[in-house]
Amino acid sequence: MTTAIGIHDLSLATTHYVLEHAALAEAQGTDGAKYRSGIGQEAMSIPALDEDIVTLAASAAAPILARHGRAEPSTVLLATESGVDQSKSAGLYLHSLLDLPRCTRMVELKQACYAATAALQFAVGLVARDPAQQILVIATDIARYDLDTPAEATQGAGAVAFLVAADPAIAALDPVSGLYSDDVNDFWRPNYRGTPIVDGKLSVHAYLTATEHAFAHYRSGGGRDLDRFAAFCYHQPFTEMAYKAHRHLLESQGEVATREALAEKLAPTTHYNRVIGNSYTASLYLALASVLDHGGDLTGKPVAMLSYGSGAVAEFFSAVPVPGYRRQLRTTDNRQTIDARKPVGYHRYRELYHAYSALGKGGDRTLPVETGAPFRLAAIDGHQRIYEAR
Ligand code: HMG
Repeated sequence: MTTAIGIHDLSLATTHYVLEHAALAEAQGTDGAKYRSGIGQEAMSIPALDEDIVTLAASAAAPILARHGRAEPSTVLLATESGVDQSKSAGLYLHSLLDLPRCTRMVELKQACYAATAALQFAVGLVARDPAQQILVIATDIARYDLDTPAEATQGAGAVAFLVAADPAIAALDPVSGLYSDDVNDFWRPNYRGTPIVDGKLSVHAYLTATEHAFAHYRSGGGRDLDRFAAFCYHQPFTEMAYKAHRHLLESQGEVATREALAEKLAPTTHYNRVIGNSYTASLYLALASVLDHGGDLTGKPVAMLSYGSGAVAEFFSAVPVPGYRRQLRTTDNRQTIDARKPVGYHRYRELYHAYSALGKGGDRTLPVETGAPFRLAAIDGHQRIYEAR
């Protein structure tokens, strides 16, 4: 019998601040219903100046290391598309922040929002070769778009850390994966830009095409039919995207998709993304956290996962929650992390946005203490990022 490999523990983090979409809509003179029901968003996480993808990653990973031990992960795979350096892996800052052993392999992965799924699959490969190994995957991103564009309402930020192991305590991954890649310019960020260039309508179309093809490949490899899944976790740049994608997938299989039928399989996956916004690589794994925390007893019931990263790569795969998984969840901590955010008004949000952009342009800075998180960016000094743990 082959040993099951999958997710052994999972923890999330988000930012210090939150902007309600109602405040954004009011300031812009936009109908609030466009955000609430049109894109399915209520709020988005906004980083404090002393937060970045490293501090979010450290906050997400620390509870996992506290539970399982610092020495456990042999490898840390950090997935991000909002990295802080072109050479050094952001994971290496975690090495000192989280006091990891020297005999750890650390690397950063990038392919837009898809990279955490690549990291998951690479982790599965390492565990298959040596089932004694545990691999820490961290998806961490800050989604920022140009102000006063249609994409502005789809910003957000968050991190999800998960431990991949043999005989997992939360969910076993099925071995079949459906893959899809295409060279498409729907969303990209050249090295000289702090924000992406995005063709919103093309990106939605590219996502739908990728979903259909990835599922077809999954089925051709012996994967389950759609009616076998208890829930569908989609990458959620905004939560209505999951509804668009699932409707498209059902209709491509000749099925009728009523709103009620869609909501039954999707609503439990959207609680976190609806109030956090797009967290790029972390978004799919926030959907997984959401369904595990809100989807009732899923023991033995397959959950579908659709990972999409612009550019574009998609993967359709599935996981099955194992007996006792609910005892491993961090549902209360997850809610507290989200509820602890401090609301900001539109004016303060714009100030933070511009200050954050200025920080990305270089120069020495000592940063004011803002975040209440256990890790913060204290300064930039001689082009070095100085972090502190508290
Ligand atoms: P937009 O032009 O502001 O919005 O752009 P719209 O006019 O298309 O309206 C959006 C929806 O709200 C529409 O519904 C409207 O009908 C509805 P739909 O037709 O789509 O079903 N609406 C209303 N509903 C109720 N009351 C109203 C009202 N008004 C309108 N009064 C867009 C929307 C998503 C394109 C924009 O926000 C954008 O460009 N976002 C960034 C790109 C993005 O998120 N793309 C998603 C797919 S690509 C992806 O997921 C990858 C990504 O995460 C990056 C990565 O991989 O790294 C982005």
